[in-house]
Amino acid sequence: MPSIRYPKIKNQNFTIIFTCLGVCISLFGCTSNSQKSTSLAELETSKQGMVVSAHPLASEAGQLILQKGGNAVDAAVATAFAISVVEPFSAGIGGGGFLLLGTPPENLENQQKYKIQALDFRERAPKAATRNMYLNQQGEVEKRASLDGHLAVGVPGTVAGLYTVHKYYGKLPWSELLQPAINYASNGFEVSDRFRDRLERRLDIINKNPEAREIFTKDGKAYQPGDVLIQNDKAQTLKTIAENPQSFYTGKIAEAIATDMKANGGLITLEDLKDYTPIWRNPVCGKFRQNKICAMPPPSSGGVHLLQILNIVGDTNLRQWGRKNPDTIHLLAEAMRIAYADRSKYLGDPDFVNVPVKQLTSRGYARKRRQEINQKQAKPSRKVQPAAPETLGRYIWESPDTTHLTVVDEERNVISMTFTVNGSFGAGVVAAGTGILLNNEMDDFAVAPGVPNLYGLVGGEANAITPEKTPLSSMTPVIVTRDGKLVMAAGAPGGSTIITTVLQVVLNVLEYKMNVAEAVSAPRFHHQWLPDRLILETGGFSEATVDELRQRGHNIEMWDGWGNANAVVVTENGKLEGAADPRGEGEARGVGESGSRE
Ligand code: DON
Repeated sequence: MPSIRYPKIKNQNFTIIFTCLGVCISLFGCTSNSQKSTSLAELETSKQGMVVSAHPLASEAGQLILQKGGNAVDAAVATAFAISVVEPFSAGIGGGGFLLLGTPPENLENQQKYKIQALDFRERAPKAATRNMYLNQQGEVEKRASLDGHLAVGVPGTVAGLYTVHKYYGKLPWSELLQPAINYASNGFEVSDRFRDRLERRLDIINKNPEAREIFTKDGKAYQPGDVLIQNDKAQTLKTIAENPQSFYTGKIAEAIATDMKANGGLITLEDLKDYTPIWRNPVCGKFRQNKICAMPPPSSGGVHLLQILNIVGDTNLRQWGRKNPDTIHLLAEAMRIAYADRSKYLGDPDFVNVPVKQLTSRGYARKRRQEINQKQAKPSRKVQPAAPETLGRYIWESPDTTHLTVVDEERNVISMTFTVNGSFGAGVVAAGTGILLNNEMDDFAVAPGVPNLYGLVGGEANAITPEKTPLSSMTPVIVTRDGKLVMAAGAPGGSTIITTVLQVVLNVLEYKMNVAEAVSAPRFHHQWLPDRLILETGGFSEATVDELRQRGHNIEMWDGWGNANAVVVTENGKLEGAADPRGEGEARGVGESGSRE
């Protein structure tokens, strides 16, 4: 069988791209003085359906399923399994994630409105996990223990999540949806520059695990662009899942994972796998201008802080100010700083701690925090504290409402889904005989109060490790509707930067009226409270703007591009427009009339 080739990356006028901030923080100095600028994404249009993902072959898998008559759920399942094969370093069946499902009223009985549901299939802490499991006898954090190797792995949720959403809303048979992924795994596909870069950064840890070494290296050396990577064990595992998805949790795949864990000092047992259940949750929704913005609720912090920042913007006419105006960047950066300060204290798994979602997303609270922002002077992060509980207690919810892949079908069902194995190549370990690369999601817990995780995020009690608890996430799949109709769906990877990337993509469309290609391409900035720095994308902002922001007290760092967003927008005349971030290698694929790849 021939190996599968995919089109070369479309836009090449940038060189080094960090689509994962964590890698940048932990392995590289991130400062850059070069003047690279990101190119413009390709715009794909279609009337009938659209799939956008981080890899052309994964988008193609979803497109094929739409063409076969599948709906958005079917196509998302096929795309996600394909990602698991062609982008195993970013997400897959050894990890977990979140999805939002949007369904128009005519597709649901007794339903008046466009309905949005959230599914949490994030990894959970094993039953044997303990609060101090990453501390040594002196009580110090054992370096990299939550990042590398079997102890870093949380109980994976991807297979259960995809099966759950398919069971209720899928149209085509489950086994058909895994076929493209099985083909990619058994016939192989060409490794890209991006794949090689990720691999080289994690080569040390991968070489320590014989299974991972066998699959991802040639005698310990990274596969190079153009090499064909075949994953036979994964193909077999996917065939088993195609026949019976439960095998991942109670069958022979579960046994292989549990055996591998026991042999290598990991904590996950058969009981952990058997008890894993995805959780349907109510999305958090709020208003911005005429739009209803719905995003992922805790245990992701994404939705809460996306809404919080939009609320702090409030009625400010950012459009009039201009997107690259220092006033705009300053206001948003100060709002980001406040939001991430609150995140550090209040956000965690709502099944274990009380998360004041309504207060944090209330407009009254946003107005109060907005008053604290001095437009002429940045406030050092040490002076910006999470809200005191008594302050927060005054605010109540005022509104009745509340690798990323985005799929929209002809009926305007939509899946907006972000899933992950956390850091590149997760924990760097593959469960023997399964081909499954396992996550290192345990690092998203606060391993000790105030100790930063891979993304520099700090946390405390609310995000402490507890058995069966879900680590706090920043993943922010979002769906926007107006007057009951779909407006856009979007999301991004990038650790702590996810929230601010999604915020800017949403603002680019809703406030700055960009088309979707411009919206995912436009230069970005990021602030996360701690460390106290404002990161600007190299080449994206004028020197005058950067100087002005410095004058206002911001500690500026220039970084090459981050994030790998994608989005689909429904235009005024009802057409779909999709685009994948030019910082990555993803692709939008339309089906039907005016889809450019029919
Ligand atoms: O859930 C989270 O927030 C992180 N585990 C996401 C990791 C991520 O985006 C990797 N970066 N490119």
